[in-house]
Amino acid sequence: MRNFRGSKRLRRGSVTLKDGIGLVFPQNTSVEKERPADSRQIEAKQNEVVTVKTVPVRLGSRSYEIEIGTNLLGRVVKRLACLAAGRQVVVVTDENVSSTYADPLLSSLRESGFTPLLAVVPPGESSKSLSIASGLFDQMIHSNADRRTVVIALGGGVVGDLAGFVAATYARGVSFYQIPTTLLAMVDSSVGGKVGIDHPLAKNMIGAFHQPIGVTCDIDLLASLPDRQYRCGLAEVVKYGVIMDPIFFEMIETSIDAINQRDPLVVATMVARCCELKAQVVEEDEFETTGRRAILNYGHTFAHAFETAADYEKVQHGEAVAMGMICAARLAERLGRIDGQINHRQRALWKSLQLPTVVPSWLLEEDLIASMRKDKKSLAGRLRFVLPTRLGHVSIVEDVDESLVQEVMRECSQSP
Ligand SMILES: NC(=O)c1ccc[n+]([C@@H]2O[C@H](COP(=O)([O-])OP(=O)(O)OC[C@H]3O[C@@H](n4cnc5c(N)ncnc54)[C@H](O)[C@@H]3O)[C@@H](O)[C@H]2O)c1
Ligand SMILES: [Zn+2]
Repeated sequence: MRNFRGSKRLRRGSVTLKDGIGLVFPQNTSVEKERPADSRQIEAKQNEVVTVKTVPVRLGSRSYEIEIGTNLLGRVVKRLACLAAGRQVVVVTDENVSSTYADPLLSSLRESGFTPLLAVVPPGESSKSLSIASGLFDQMIHSNADRRTVVIALGGGVVGDLAGFVAATYARGVSFYQIPTTLLAMVDSSVGGKVGIDHPLAKNMIGAFHQPIGVTCDIDLLASLPDRQYRCGLAEVVKYGVIMDPIFFEMIETSIDAINQRDPLVVATMVARCCELKAQVVEEDEFETTGRRAILNYGHTFAHAFETAADYEKVQHGEAVAMGMICAARLAERLGRIDGQINHRQRALWKSLQLPTVVPSWLLEEDLIASMRKDKKSLAGRLRFVLPTRLGHVSIVEDVDESLVQEVMRECSQSP
């Protein structure tokens, strides 16, 4: 059984990595015994920084690094001192995150000679709007932000997408640094350069590709994250296992307790593997032109329909993705592409990670198929699904019979 090796070696508050070797994810099919060149684990004493991994995102002149570990806020400032010395910085955050994390970051920035501007937006999806973006532009103009200004996103996916959009468009584009504070933002939205805001008629419709100059995932920042948000991030984590890495999937299965207890080293290693996997996909298809990036939408055709039907209120994105992955695996099963194993193992994981294992029947009262046809991922109204061919591999399937899709959703609304 593969596991997250060494996970008990790191304790919150007193960071101790004995033996100098922590856990390392396997790259392909075998567990690596050596430290990879880009892993910089440090034998640490109390309050010292532990960088579990630095993941490069190789995009030519837009390349950058994602640093993952604990107690990293101080290091962000050191990185910024190298990347953006003497430049104005604007920290964008939301009210929930600001109360805990803005002060330490701002103090650290000031100590290093920066004069940071702080912009705090209301929490929630409604901040991904033109009016909030416009308010940020106003603040930046008032404070004489120029083309050398660096925008720092300190928050979840909402803040990252919004701040990134502002950075992509202010003065035809300024530099952007991400400090994600939700699990979802660490494993998904902060990697890959998609930034944007919502249009009242369509989510994420106004945006750009704008890569950050760096990303820091400080696992300590997840300590205050509400349980439901943490679990939503886990749905995306498991997704990477199903679409790309069966060993990672297995490691999640065998590390449930540590994941549920948010063991910092296990979470950091898990985040690092997700970042590596997403970086691989983004490197192959930065601007979503080759189709490779579409594999990240596994479960999402269903999920978007569920979210729309629930008005984005009663169902969180990660919960919709968990249900969507169940439906996608079942659809693949019904099409004869896989046996029942993947569905069975996914459901077992959702149960252990306290994510939904069935689609609530009230969701089926909506016209979910019509919603799927309108999804921007569909092609001219034709449904497209990312379906597993085996654990760790998926492909895109078009022209699936709509009545079968409907039937599958009905099946998935009942306990197996
Ligand atoms: N750009 C991309 O590639 C991409 C990918 C996936 C999702 N997204 C976007 O990400 C957004 C969802 O992101 P999210 O799930 O992070 O939601 P979010 O940013 O709304 O954060 C969820 C909630 O947690 C709070 N929060 C954040 N960090 C916290 C912390 N450390 N402690 C306590 N509370 C904290 C926030 O204030 C918010 O209330 C959506 O808008 C989605 O479209 C973008
Ligand atoms: Zn998602």
